[in-house]
Amino acid sequence: MQQGDGSIIAAVDIGTTKVCTVIAEVRDDEINVVGVGWTENSGVSKGTIINIAETTEAIKKSVEKAEEMAKVRIDTVLASISGKHINGMKGHGETALSNQRQKEITEEDKHRAMEGATSVRLSHDRETLHVVPIQYIVDTQDEIEDPLGMTGMKLEVDAYMITGSITSIDNVKKVVERAGYHCEDMILQGLASSQAVLYPDEKDVGVLLLDIGGGTTDIALFYRKSLRFVRVIPVGGQFITNDIVQGLQTPKYVAEELKKKYGMSEAAQAADPAGESAAPGEMIEVPDMGSSKVEKVERSTLTKFIKPRVQELIKFVEEELKKEGIDRSMYAGGIVLTGGTAQLKGIDRLFKEEMNLRVRIGAPLKEKIVGLYDIVSTPEYATVIGLIEHYIREHGHESFTGGGGGSMGGVWSWLKKNIFDKI
Ligand SMILES: Nc1ncnc2c1ncn2[C@@H]1O[C@H](COP(=O)(O)OP(=O)(O)OP(=O)(O)O)[C@@H](O)[C@H]1O
Ligand SMILES: [Mg+2]
Repeated sequence: MQQGDGSIIAAVDIGTTKVCTVIAEVRDDEINVVGVGWTENSGVSKGTIINIAETTEAIKKSVEKAEEMAKVRIDTVLASISGKHINGMKGHGETALSNQRQKEITEEDKHRAMEGATSVRLSHDRETLHVVPIQYIVDTQDEIEDPLGMTGMKLEVDAYMITGSITSIDNVKKVVERAGYHCEDMILQGLASSQAVLYPDEKDVGVLLLDIGGGTTDIALFYRKSLRFVRVIPVGGQFITNDIVQGLQTPKYVAEELKKKYGMSEAAQAADPAGESAAPGEMIEVPDMGSSKVEKVERSTLTKFIKPRVQELIKFVEEELKKEGIDRSMYAGGIVLTGGTAQLKGIDRLFKEEMNLRVRIGAPLKEKIVGLYDIVSTPEYATVIGLIEHYIREHGHESFTGGGGGSMGGVWSWLKKNIFDKI
């Protein structure tokens, strides 16, 4: 949809705890957030849709709220996808170039090489979601970001391909369509979040992005500017809340509140400008589950329930990296934590201690965002903002019309239109 010289783009992040919508007016150099909608969702478990009707309803409500705020009606959205069915793998493709000496490499040549990289046979229940180039090689020269205009005999490409289960992909399409919207594109949550929170320098040196939400942790690793690895671990903040419920025998809403308020407090230290540390022996009140009794427990007791869960998550992440043979030198730029659980007090410190790397909390970067930036400036909004940023980067904002057309951007959009949609 076009408005003025900008395009109106809407994105819906279908998360385990919430469905969140952002409507933005996008111009070449800015994303003007004009509407935001947020609805709790219980139709998704560990990133995967388990209840179509509930998720459809949550999408409707979330989009309507954003529409009301933006004072526009939308008919097309970008949607997010996650879940442990997501997988990623490397592919390699090559194509012979014209043997005319001065003939330059064209977009067509790039596409042909990429086609080769994606020609892996997938099992019948899987579909390709994304393909991103890692490097191009022209004859013997490697690490080429864009070979356009170069000359050579052979063009090769290493690419990273992300696939998902057809059932899960279809369910995302289904809930968006049943809610009354056309799904223009579906983007992996971890990839979207990376787009919103990572700095180009981090991606260049090597960085590990962890979007720790309510039910999943999306891992995305970037090295030398390109995506090298993605995985989804079905563990998130809900597990921490459940442990507090069980450990303190308190209702879920209280556990959630205590978790958010205190997190992993430590004994008071001299330097504590934020005042987030607990005084030794500080007591907090904990209402009992199912009775009106209120017990007093030491604030540090909370840490006893939270810390092992976070340590377990760190172990899972390390195991995934190890399985793939990823060396620490590939994320020498450290770890960026985002998603709602990145706000857990003390989580950055624990990651730093356990993994011995630079750790920062990431939220949508301000650079390009104007309008209601304050509303979307926290880590829970990383995915939904990233959906828009990723889409613009791949396709250009003018192509968001709901029915195709407009300018075509990256190689992947070409492949999708010309290859995958025809299979
Ligand atoms: N201040 C806080 N401290 C600790 N945890 C928090 C805080 N704020 C939010 N959370 C937790 O963040 C989680 C929700 O994060 P988010 O909105 O990123 O998840 P989601 O996108 O719905 O789920 P997912 O991405 O896993 O499908 C909840 O478990 C919530 O308890
Ligand atoms: Mg999320």
